[in-house]
Amino acid sequence: MARPRVLVTRSIPEPGPSLLQAACEVHIWPEALPPPRAALLEAVRGCHGLLSLLTDRIDAEVMDVAGPQLRVISNLAVGVDNIDLQAAARRGIAVGHTPGVLTEATADLTWALLLAAARRIVEGERYVRAGEWQTWDPLLLLGTDVYGATLGIIGFGRIGQAVARRAQGFGMRVLYHSRRTMPSEVTAQAVDLPTLLRESDIISLHAPLTPATHHLINRDTIRLIKPGAILINTARGALVETAALLEALRAGHLAAAALDVTDPEPLPADHPLLALPNCIVVPHIGSASRQTRARMAEIAARNLLAGVHGAPLPHAVALPAPSAEE
Ligand code: DGY
Repeated sequence: MARPRVLVTRSIPEPGPSLLQAACEVHIWPEALPPPRAALLEAVRGCHGLLSLLTDRIDAEVMDVAGPQLRVISNLAVGVDNIDLQAAARRGIAVGHTPGVLTEATADLTWALLLAAARRIVEGERYVRAGEWQTWDPLLLLGTDVYGATLGIIGFGRIGQAVARRAQGFGMRVLYHSRRTMPSEVTAQAVDLPTLLRESDIISLHAPLTPATHHLINRDTIRLIKPGAILINTARGALVETAALLEALRAGHLAAAALDVTDPEPLPADHPLLALPNCIVVPHIGSASRQTRARMAEIAARNLLAGVHGAPLPHAVALPAPSAEE
């Protein structure tokens, strides 16, 4: 049988490409930016497998243009909100993702942002570079104590729990709100969302983006947040209503925010959030360590290879029951 055709929508780290090239005819989108829609549709035609990134919208149209031989979509991410899972289920296409391997890297980055926001590290660094540092000053760049504070974690899956584990070293009280009560070796208290918002000094988001979590942090929920609290988002930008966050930061209701993910993403350089000294934004780098990205690429490649050969994916996404209507 001819080698299966697969499309990889951007350059990915080794061992991903080598694993694929050993068994498949591989087309890797060669440019630094994601394929524009028309190019994606052109390139996917006739493929048996698609290795996609979170920047690619993979919907029914992409699946249909690819053709009925498309057996697997393997996302180089744990989140799969860029894929229409219902459309995949209806067409019998398996969907893979990369859970587990990016948990610790993402929790580390969450903590980097948490500490930076609470202790105003980015503001301080800019201050020094701008030549404004004249003397030690008892009132200079006062932040928020992290040690002993209350941390509220929204979404208590692998990454939320890894963030909570780190909080133990900081003597924090940890609250969490999650769809399910999670068995966890971390000492944390399950609470409802309003309680978490009212009692937390620092709130960190780790829920997947779904219709139920879209704009979970909005004008109404922000009103419940304790004045002077800090918001960290390393999950998905659209969990937060950006305009409401902007207002809360401007008004000082939130002391600070630190975002690895934004809505829109990427955030344009002239976006008003970037004019605020109390908002830190980094470019979706939660899993961006060499080791983690290599593991993600390997898992994504192995998911793809299993899928094109009709085998169960090592890391399959549970698909919804296919509904009749598109
Ligand atoms: C994911 O995996 O969903 C992250 O956002 C990127 O690592």
